[in-house]
Amino acid sequence: MPAGGVSGSPKGAGLGRFGERRALRGRGTALLEGPDRLQGRAGRRQAPPLWNEIGESGDCRASRLRGQKLRWVGGGGSFQSPTYKAGKSGSGPLLGRWCRAMLWKTAPLLALVGQVLVLENGLLRRPPMGWLAWERFRCNIDCEEDPENCISERLFMEMADRLAQDGWRDLGYTYLNIDDCWIGGRDAKGHLMPSPKRFPNGIAFLADYAHSLGLQLGIYEDLGNFTCMGFPGTTLDKVVQDAQTFAEWKVDMLKLDGCYSTPEERAKGYPMMAAALNATGRPIAFSCSWPAYEGGLPPKVNYSQLAEICNLWRNYDDIQDSWSSVLSILDWFVDHQDILQPVAGPGHWNDPDMLLIGNFGLSFEQARAQMALWTVLAAPLFISTDLRTISAQNMDILQNPLMIKINQDPLGIQGRRILKEKSLIEVFLRPLDNNAYALVFFSRRTDMPYRFHCSLSQLNFTSSILYEAQDVYTGGVISGLRTETIFTVIINPTGVVMWYLYPVRQLGTPQQ
Ligand code: GLA
Repeated sequence: MPAGGVSGSPKGAGLGRFGERRALRGRGTALLEGPDRLQGRAGRRQAPPLWNEIGESGDCRASRLRGQKLRWVGGGGSFQSPTYKAGKSGSGPLLGRWCRAMLWKTAPLLALVGQVLVLENGLLRRPPMGWLAWERFRCNIDCEEDPENCISERLFMEMADRLAQDGWRDLGYTYLNIDDCWIGGRDAKGHLMPSPKRFPNGIAFLADYAHSLGLQLGIYEDLGNFTCMGFPGTTLDKVVQDAQTFAEWKVDMLKLDGCYSTPEERAKGYPMMAAALNATGRPIAFSCSWPAYEGGLPPKVNYSQLAEICNLWRNYDDIQDSWSSVLSILDWFVDHQDILQPVAGPGHWNDPDMLLIGNFGLSFEQARAQMALWTVLAAPLFISTDLRTISAQNMDILQNPLMIKINQDPLGIQGRRILKEKSLIEVFLRPLDNNAYALVFFSRRTDMPYRFHCSLSQLNFTSSILYEAQDVYTGGVISGLRTETIFTVIINPTGVVMWYLYPVRQLGTPQQ
């Protein structure tokens, strides 16, 4: 078909499978070349596409396919990531009363003798979503100079109000997470205390407030002598006591950082904290910064062990408010995707750090790109911006229902980069439930919108399935996608086009 042939521009005013709540904005970003557009009944399950990165090539059309298949599990037709653990699902977070009583007595001892108690909290079967203070509000503790923005009870209550009232909570952004700089010291018995000036009613009060709004409260500590900003840390002898304090305050998530500690202390302390959290009987999601302090890679990092004791973990550097920081994190995740991709799954996620959307460093295209890339990587969605002043445009990016549905896909498979072109276009793929996929076409170009020509077969799709795609940002639907159909996506510089791709029917079978 000549260029400018059959148009795959949106149908039905952009109301695709998940478009009910989204009006079509902007023009469609895909053109089709090839067989006629077809629509029909839902197709059969199909085999998964080849999965490894296809490699560098000058042109998607010329790419040679290579790679392995994802593991295809049973006849039920679902993907499984190699480390998916059925044992962590189902039975709920709480241990029986007897077990709990025994654990209260024995956990410190077990931890001390180095035994690992598996984190059986049943939490975070989907990547966590919420708001986290650090990237935007850092360690601003000057409430006299800057009462609206300092790390204080007021800031968290105001963010809680926004989460509850502006649609965030109802879309899944339920965690309200405190980061560093909340601690005032320890009392005579060694119990952690918040800064009395900035948190006059205490953390339990904040937790109650969050819970009253249908939110959950996360807190920060550091396994070491000090937090990264120099506040009292959790030394090994304080692990059990601090876990109990967090449980008494009714905290729902703990981010345990690793500043001011040795590798040996971290190797003891993180499993010990997992055991101590379990032993409290309160379901507390556990976010471990441990791997980030060990370089993020085996053999120093044991991801099988991490998946047993942590619900999520920071692998790499802190994100800063710039596009170059997003790129450096993305590059590291892609360079090591063979290691990182298989270790993520329901209950245990890689964390490339917070979303910058709404702050100062990203353009509109870059904000959309970070959201799409983090989603395809099955990353936690922790917003770190001022929800009191966020623009409608940035809210739209963060509140895109189809994006959130993809991020929260129940299979919990982390996506991978499958194609890297000399043209500086890259393609990422994430397999989803119901034989659907998320595809992100990402441009690293800095010149002008790029017309990227490709086909599903060039992305390793091999089956005789007819697909449709919904553009996640515009809502437009691209129909009539056979594996050999050449399509064109127009990708803005440092931007993305993101598709939700789903099977329509098996070709060669009669339509009903
Ligand atoms: C480390 C962490 C950050 C943040 C700061 C707080 O740098 O990686 O995410 O928590 O500490 O001091």
